[in-house]
Amino acid sequence: MEVCVVGTGYVGLVTGTCLAYLGHSVVCVDIDERKIEMLRKGQSPIYEPGLDQLIASGTQRGNLRFSTNLPKSVKESEIIFIAVGTPPLPSGKADLSYVKAVAQSIGRALDCERRRVIVNKSTVPIGSGNWVEMLVKEGLNENPAWREKLASAAGAQTGGSTADPATVSTANRRSNGSKPEDIFLVASNPEFLREGSAIADTFYPDRIVIGATDSYAAERLRALYEPIVEQTFTPPASASRPADVTAVPVVTTDLASAEMIKYAANAFLATKISFANEIANICERVGADIKEVVRGFGLDSRIGPKFLNAGVGWGGSCFGKDVSALIDIAREYSYEPALLHSTVDVNKRQRHVPVQKLQEALKIIKGKTIGLLGLAFKPNTDDLRDAPALEIAAQLIEMGARVKAYDPIANEACHRQYPELKIEYAPNAIELAEDCDAVVVVTEWEEFRYLDLNQIGEVMNQKVLVDGRNVLDPEAVEAAGFKYRGVGR
Ligand SMILES: NC(=O)c1ccc[n+]([C@@H]2O[C@H](COP(=O)([O-])OP(=O)(O)OC[C@H]3O[C@@H](n4cnc5c(N)ncnc54)[C@H](O)[C@@H]3O)[C@@H](O)[C@H]2O)c1
Repeated sequence: MEVCVVGTGYVGLVTGTCLAYLGHSVVCVDIDERKIEMLRKGQSPIYEPGLDQLIASGTQRGNLRFSTNLPKSVKESEIIFIAVGTPPLPSGKADLSYVKAVAQSIGRALDCERRRVIVNKSTVPIGSGNWVEMLVKEGLNENPAWREKLASAAGAQTGGSTADPATVSTANRRSNGSKPEDIFLVASNPEFLREGSAIADTFYPDRIVIGATDSYAAERLRALYEPIVEQTFTPPASASRPADVTAVPVVTTDLASAEMIKYAANAFLATKISFANEIANICERVGADIKEVVRGFGLDSRIGPKFLNAGVGWGGSCFGKDVSALIDIAREYSYEPALLHSTVDVNKRQRHVPVQKLQEALKIIKGKTIGLLGLAFKPNTDDLRDAPALEIAAQLIEMGARVKAYDPIANEACHRQYPELKIEYAPNAIELAEDCDAVVVVTEWEEFRYLDLNQIGEVMNQKVLVDGRNVLDPEAVEAAGFKYRGVGR
C-alpha cells in the first residue's frame, strides 16, 4: 500500500521504516529540513537500536523515501499517518498546533481522485478524531480540486449551467461522489512502542488498536497491518520474533475509545511506578527492602512484576504529558481525577530522593563534586524529554555542587539541547568518577550494572554511591568500600 507518514520523530520514523520493511511504499515527511537531509544521506536523526540498518535497506530497495513536500507526498498515498508531536502546554493540555497544521495541509493537498484514510497516530485528547475531520474539511474547502468537484456537482444539479458550489444539495453530492467522506476518512491508531525497543515493539506489539467510525477505514488499516497481525513477514536481523508471538490481536473500536485506550495505558503504567515508589518510601522507614517486596507481590498474577521498579521516578516524552492531558480532559468534564493527581505528585517528590540521599551521606552538598551516571530518561535512547537527570542536575547545581555526567549515548544531545545546564561531560564512567564525592546511578544503562567499582573508587574523593535505580547489589558495592544508598531498601 502507498503510505505517507507525517512527522519523522521517534514514532513516525520507526513506523514508516517498519512499514517499508513489510513491503509497503512509504514516504516519511517532516518540516525539519535538517532531519530529512540527514535521512536522505542514510543517517538517523535519533538513536534507536537497529533503526539505521532498516532505514538503509528500505532506502536501497527504493520503497522508503524522505521528503519535506507534504502536498506531493499526500497525493501519492492512500494511508496518511499524522505522527507529529503533541507536547504539553504549561497548563498541562496537549499542544495540538502541529496536528492542526498538518490536518489542514492534508485537506488542502488531497487530489480528490481516490479515497484516503487519515490516521491519528499522535497521542491526542479524546475527540481529536472528530476535530481532525473538521480541520481536513476546512483545508478541503480551500482545495481547487475539491472546489472543481463541487462545481461539477452543482452543474449537474442545475442541468449544466454554472452554479455556486455552496448550493449543491446533499442528494446531488451523494450521487456525484462529492461528499467529504468519499474523499477521506479519519481513523485513530494510537502507538504503544517504547523508545529503545521501538522496532521489536512495532513488529511484535501486544495489540494493534484501530478506532474508526467507518468500516472501510478500519479494513484498510487492518490490511496495512496484515503481515504483523498474521506474523507472516521474515523478521529483520535486529528484531527476531519472540517464540510466543504467533499472531497479534487487533482491537477495533470507536474513535473516542481508541483515543482513551492510549491515555489509560500510559496513566496506568505511570501509576504502577508511582505506587512502587510510594511503597519503597514506606519500606525505607520500616526497614523492608522494596526489591524483596516487589518480588513477593509482583508474582501475584493479578498484579504482574513489570513497571514496579522503585527509583528516581518516571520521565520521558509521554508519561508526564499524557497523564497531565488526561487530568485536563477529566477537568473539562468537571471531574477531578484524584488518583492521577497523586501519580504525578509522588513522581515529583521522587526526583528529590537522590538529593536527600546525598545530603544524608555527605551532609554538605555545596562545593562537592557529584557524578551522574546516565542522562537519558531511560536506557537505549538519547531522548532527554522530562528526564529525571535534568532536574537532579539542576537541583545540585542550584545547591552549589559541581556536576559531572556520563551517558553512553546522550552526552552530546544534552550538551546541545540544554546549554544552560552547567554540567561537565565525561567520556566514560571512570573519568566521570575522577574527583567525585559521590556518584548517582540515574539511568539503568546495562553497562552500569557491571561497573569496575574498585577502579571507580580509586579515583573518587569519597566513596559514596547512590543507586537511583536499584540496579546494583548493595553488598558488592559495600564490599568495594562504598557507602551505598538505594531507594526503598
Ligand atoms: N516517543 C514515544 O515513545 C511515543 C510512543 C507512543 C506515542 N507517542 C506519541 O507520538 C507522537 C509523536 O511523538 P514523537 O516522540 O515521535 O515526537 P517527535 O517530537 O520525536 O517527532 C515529531 C516530528 O514531527 C515533526 N513535525 C512537526 N510539525 C510538522 C509538520 N507540520 N509537518 C511535518 N512534520 C512536522 C517534527 O519536526 C518532528 O520531527 C506524540 O503524540 C507522542 O505522544 C510517542
